[in-house]
Amino acid sequence: MKLARRIENLPPYLFVEISKKIAEKQAKGEDVISLAIGDPDIPTPSHIIERLCRASEDPKNHRYPESGGLPEFRRAISKWYQKRFGVALDPDKEVLPLIGSKEGIGHIALCFIDPGDTALVPDPAYPVYSISTMFAGGLPHCMPLIQENEFLPDLTAIPKDIARKAKVIWINYPNNPTSAVADLKFFEGVVAFAKRHSIAVCHDGPYTEVAFDGYRPVSFLQAEGSREVGVEFHSLSKSYNMTGWRVGMAVGNPAMIDALKRVKSNLDSGIPQALQHAAIEALTGPQDCISEHNTIYQRRRDRLLQALNQIGIQAKPPRASLYIWAKVPKGYTSVEFATLLLDEVGVVVIPGVSYGKHGEGYIRLSLTVPDKRLEEAIDRLKAWRRR
Ligand SMILES: Cc1ncc(COP(=O)(O)O)c(C=O)c1O
Repeated sequence: MKLARRIENLPPYLFVEISKKIAEKQAKGEDVISLAIGDPDIPTPSHIIERLCRASEDPKNHRYPESGGLPEFRRAISKWYQKRFGVALDPDKEVLPLIGSKEGIGHIALCFIDPGDTALVPDPAYPVYSISTMFAGGLPHCMPLIQENEFLPDLTAIPKDIARKAKVIWINYPNNPTSAVADLKFFEGVVAFAKRHSIAVCHDGPYTEVAFDGYRPVSFLQAEGSREVGVEFHSLSKSYNMTGWRVGMAVGNPAMIDALKRVKSNLDSGIPQALQHAAIEALTGPQDCISEHNTIYQRRRDRLLQALNQIGIQAKPPRASLYIWAKVPKGYTSVEFATLLLDEVGVVVIPGVSYGKHGEGYIRLSLTVPDKRLEEAIDRLKAWRRR
C-alpha cells in the first residue's frame, strides 16, 4: 500500500511527544490535569438539549438533511447576525450551515486553491488553514503574528509578488492561540488589501462570544466592503458549549458561499436535522448563558494569571477567547517547558511552537477546566516554583 503524498507530506504533529508522555503517566495511575484543549467543560444549556430531544423524536428529522441546511436554521443564523452585529444577511445566498466550522474551513480550500496556489496564513495559527491549503495542493505563506504588532499580521510586510499571486488570506480574531483581538480598522485594512490584490478573505471568528471585562468583539462582516471580498466562519461550539454537537456556519460573500455549498453538496449530507433545531434554539432562545459562561471563564482567567505571575511567567490578560498565551521562562523552548510542567507537576499545556514557528517562546493554557481541577492545577503550578 502506498499513501498519497498529501498524507506522507503532512508536517509532524508536535504535540505527539507530550501526548505519548500523558498516556504513559496515566497508564501508571498518575493524575494529569490538562489545560490543553479549548473544549468547554460546562454542559450545553438545558433548553437547547430539550429542543434536541424533542426534535429527535420527530420522524421528519430521521431522514437525510439537505447539505445547505434547513431554511429556518439559515434564517435563525441571519437573525442572530443582525441582532448581535447589526449585519443583515440573505439567509438563502449569504448563509451556509456547517458540520462544525472546522469542516467548512477545511473544505473552502477546494474552492480557491489549485495545485501550486498560495494562501496567506497566520503563524501561529489554528492548523487547519494551512493543512487544508496543502490538501488542495497549495502553498501556505506565513504571516508572522508577533507581540510587537499585537499579534496582528503586518500586511505591508507581505512581499509584492506573494500578494499578487495569493488566492486567499486567512485571519482569526479573537485569535487562537494568542487570544489577541482585532478592531474594525484592522478588518477594513484587510478588505482594502484583498481588493487591491483580488484575494478572497476567510475570517474565522468562533470566539466572538467569549469575552471579558465587558468587551464585545466585532465581526469581520461589520467592516465596510467586507462582503465584497470575504466570508466569516462562526460556530456554536464555543458560544453555547456545543463542541460535541458539531454545528457551525459560513456567512458573507454570496459567490464564496455558493462555491462552498457546491463542494459540500458533493461531499456531505449536512447537519442532522434534530441538531439544526437545537441550533435554532441556541441562536434564538435565551442568551443569558453567554454572560454566565464568560463570568466563569473570567474568574478562571484571573486565578490562573495570578498563579502564573507568582511563578514568574508573563502573560497579558486576554480580552477574549478561551486561552492564556504565556511566555515561557528564559532558558527553555516551548516544548521543553511544556514537558517540564508535565513531568514535574502533572499539568498539560500546549507548546506554542505546535501552532507554527512564531509560536516558539510561548505556551497556551485553556480555561475550559472545571474550577476544582483548575485550583488543583494552580496549586501545582505554584509548588513548581518552590523546587
Ligand atoms: C480558531 C478556531 N477555528 C475553528 C475551530 C473549530 O471549531 P468547530 O469546528 O468546533 O466549530 C476552532 C476550534 O478549536 C478554533 O480554535
